[in-house]
Amino acid sequence: MKKIIMQPSGKEIDCPSGETVLSVLEKQGYALPNNCRAGACGECKIKVLSGEFDQGFIMDMALSQEDRDRGYGLMCMAKPTSDVLEIEFGTEDAQPKLFPPVENSWHIVTDKIQRTEKILELRLSPLGQGIKFWPGQYAMIGDESTGHPLRPYSIANSPKPNGELSFLITKEREGKTSPWIHEEVNIGDNIKINAPYGTFLGDPSVDTPILCLASGSGLAPILSLLNAYLSRGHKNPVTLLFSAKTKADLLDFGKLKYLESKYVNFKYKFTLTQESNKEGGLEGRIEKVLPQLLSDLSNHSVYIAGGVSFVNSCKKIVDKLGAK
Ligand code: FES
Repeated sequence: MKKIIMQPSGKEIDCPSGETVLSVLEKQGYALPNNCRAGACGECKIKVLSGEFDQGFIMDMALSQEDRDRGYGLMCMAKPTSDVLEIEFGTEDAQPKLFPPVENSWHIVTDKIQRTEKILELRLSPLGQGIKFWPGQYAMIGDESTGHPLRPYSIANSPKPNGELSFLITKEREGKTSPWIHEEVNIGDNIKINAPYGTFLGDPSVDTPILCLASGSGLAPILSLLNAYLSRGHKNPVTLLFSAKTKADLLDFGKLKYLESKYVNFKYKFTLTQESNKEGGLEGRIEKVLPQLLSDLSNHSVYIAGGVSFVNSCKKIVDKLGAK
């Protein structure tokens, strides 16, 4: 058994061999930002103060040579190889914040609903105890025994007492897991999931206007966060701007219109990028339409979810508009 020591707290955690630093931290309830869990996004970058680790296969754009030279590593892929790995992590207290993930939790498929041509909603109910999670977190779904690798899917609902979970699954043409879910997993099947993971969490104490930007199945974690904020009585304006190619791609249109009529502080806006908006609404990519809606984001909390290029272009424009 190897050890990971977190500094400046000096807390030690055991690391079974073969486990990544990220998975060990999460099992102990420590939040480390991450997105892809595959060495591609750079979100899980951390400074390693001493010790050796196997970085595994990662993409150069996720960790520059300069960062490597300065001792940084990507913890979603890093496996300690020395007895002790000392990392820079958290505060003096290094307080546990997240629910530890549960592995191989049996759930039954209660529904599959085709939401758009490529995206279906998968609903699961727990056969045992429900998974505890924070809005914005995700589950790993797949069946490695039949060649369908575990893939991260955001939970699209806020926590429910009966433990029901829903997911928006985009069918990836080249993928193995999403076509399996679309075509082979049936209502009534029992499947295993690992959850919860991720730190795309809303701050319950936030007291600012909120802006959410989403496209495609990136709407899933945003829906979970929105429901949580609105249902606990967030008083400031909450705006969702959803980007879709065509009107047929407007996921959960009815549900979002319902939320808009229920909560006076919630505004639902959408923009179409590949079709004209016949109702005179917004047209074009987020970077073009956002400044027309909100020209100053300096006091907003901003959440963005979607594909990598969507997230990157949204980040650029929200930075330009003053988001901190
Ligand atoms: S989570 Fe994306 S690189 Fe580690």
